[in-house]
Amino acid sequence: MKSSLEDTLLAAIRTIPDYPRPGILFRDITTLLGNARAFRRAIDELVHPYAGLKIDKIAGIEARGFILGGAVAHQLSAGFVPIRKKGKLPYETVRVAYSLEYGLDEMEMHKDGVSPGEKVIVVDDLIATGGTAEAAVKLLRQIGADIVAACFVIDLPDLGGRQKLEALDVPVRTLIGYE
Ligand code: PRP
Ligand code: ADE
Repeated sequence: MKSSLEDTLLAAIRTIPDYPRPGILFRDITTLLGNARAFRRAIDELVHPYAGLKIDKIAGIEARGFILGGAVAHQLSAGFVPIRKKGKLPYETVRVAYSLEYGLDEMEMHKDGVSPGEKVIVVDDLIATGGTAEAAVKLLRQIGADIVAACFVIDLPDLGGRQKLEALDVPVRTLIGYE
């Protein structure tokens, strides 16, 4: 019998207590990526509402959003644009500061990574406080992107990230949540 999507994903994701800081339950998707069936189901489920919408670009957030976003871009025949931690991109960038569940950072993207008016979906593995995804939305909008949605395999709903993005008028899609 085929397991439910939720059961498949929950069984494939590993939880590491106290990583990278005491008190954090780290949801590790490397075990999902290594499981061909679970990886395919996650990607199929992420993309299906957007098939036929002529999405121009997937914006993948470093680092795990690169892996998922690349697969999503392939499925939707879209381009891919990386959103990176500061100092990693070779050409001219736009940059924003943001806060994480466990720290502070800055991220950036190439200023020509998306053309004004292009339809973009943001992809990452997980939304927690939403600070990272909010920063990605701000970068993309600075250069004129039309953000169709932001998609994540995992939601940590207690941390309020979904509400943060919805307040910016970004529709949010997540596949599973950990209370
Ligand atoms: C994780 C995760 C998201 C972000 C979510 O990335 O992959 O990008 O945290 O947290 P937030 O919603 O509170 O902003 P991390 O910063 O650990 O970077 P990494 O993927 O490069 O390890
Ligand atoms: N990013 C922010 N919080 C996280 C968590 N609990 N597990 C994995 N990645 C995260």
